Amino acid sequence: MQQAGILGWGYCLPSKVLTNHDLEKMVETSDEWIRTRTGIEERRIAAASEATSDLASVAAEMALTRAGLAPTDIDLIIVATVTPDMAFPATACLVQANIGATRAAAFDLSAACSGFIYGLALAKSMIETGAIRHCLLIGAETLSRITDYEDRNTCVLFGDGAGALVIGPSEKHLLLAIEVGADGTGGQVLQQPAGGSRHPATAETVAARQHFIRMDGQEVFKFAVSKVPEATLSLLHRAGLTPADIAWFVPHQANKRIIDSVAKKLGLAAEQVVINLQRYGNVSNGSIPIAFAEAAESGTFLPGQRILLAGFGGGLTWGTGLVQW
Ligand SMILES: CC(C)(COP(=O)(O)OP(=O)(O)OC[C@H]1O[C@@H](n2cnc3c(N)ncnc32)[C@H](O)[C@@H]1OP(=O)(O)O)[C@@H](O)C(=O)NCCC(=O)NCCS
Repeated sequence: MQQAGILGWGYCLPSKVLTNHDLEKMVETSDEWIRTRTGIEERRIAAASEATSDLASVAAEMALTRAGLAPTDIDLIIVATVTPDMAFPATACLVQANIGATRAAAFDLSAACSGFIYGLALAKSMIETGAIRHCLLIGAETLSRITDYEDRNTCVLFGDGAGALVIGPSEKHLLLAIEVGADGTGGQVLQQPAGGSRHPATAETVAARQHFIRMDGQEVFKFAVSKVPEATLSLLHRAGLTPADIAWFVPHQANKRIIDSVAKKLGLAAEQVVINLQRYGNVSNGSIPIAFAEAAESGTFLPGQRILLAGFGGGLTWGTGLVQW
C-alpha cells in the first residue's frame, strides 16, 4: 500500500490587522482581559473584496509551488470551512476555477473547527487506497463575516485566514494515523443559528443577530480540555506510541489556556507547542494548517520527528493526527 504524506504547504493571511486595542473601542473589553483569558493579541480581517475562496486560492498556490506540482496534477480539492463564499457552489469549486485545477473533483467539508483533521483522514485513506493520487486540502475562513462585533464574548476570539496542504504518495512527511469523532448532543454550545433550513434568513433573523456565531464559552472550554487529551492518547495508543515520542504539538489555536492545559495533561513542554494565536486568533479550519505551514516553512520540523495535530470545535467534533517528518 502506498503511504500518504505531505508534499507541500501554504498559507494566506489578509493584511488588515485588528488589535485588542482596536476592540477596546468597539466593545467593553480590555487588552489585558483578552491577553490573559485567551492569549490573543491581534487577528487578521479580510478586506471587503476578499472572500474565503480568495484566501484559499492563494494558500493553495503556495502549497502547489512547495510541492513542485501543477494545478492539473491535483485529483481532489477539499475546502474545510464554516464560512463558504455561499451555500453552493462549494468554495472548493471556486478554488478549482481560480487556480485552474481542471482535473480535480471538488467539495467542501463541514465539521466546524475540526474540519481540517477530518479532511486529512479522508485524503489519507483515498490516497492509500489508490482512489486518488494528489489531494489539495485547504482550511479557510472569513470568520469576521459571521462574528458579532457587538458581542464581547465572541468578537475578541476570531480572525480570518487560510492554510493548505498538498497530500500525495510519499516516503517522508507521512500521515501516520488520524482519528476523528463527534458528539452531536453538544451542538447547541457553538453555532450559527440562522441562515440554514431551520431558520432561513428573514428580516427577523437578521434583526435578532442570529447569523452570527453564538457560543457558550465555558462549555466549549470544558469540552476541549477533557476531550482533546483523551482523543490524543487514544490515537497515540493505537499507533503504539506515547507522548514521549512526540517532538511537536500543533493544536487548534482557540485559546492559550486550553492549549496549555492540554499540553500539560499530555506531559508536553511549552517549547514543543506551535502557537500563533497571539497573531491570528482562532481561524477555525485555518488555524491548524496555518500554524503547521508556518512551522514547516521556517524549518521547525526535523527529519524523523513526530508531530501531533489536534482540533476541536462545534458539532461537537474533534480530531487528532500524527505526522512523521
Ligand atoms: C470565551 C472565553 C475566553 C471566556 O473566558 P472565561 O474565563 O470562561 O470567562 P467567562 O465566560 O467566565 O466570563 C468571565 C467574565 O468576563 C466577561 N467577559 C467576557 N468576554 C469579555 C471580554 N471580551 N472582555 C471583558 N470581559 C469579558 C464575562 O461577561 C464575565 O463577566 P461576569 O463575571 O460579570 O458575568 C473562554 O471561555 C474560552 O476561550 N472558551 C472556549 C471558546 C473557544 O475556544 N471557542 C471556539 C472553539 S473552536
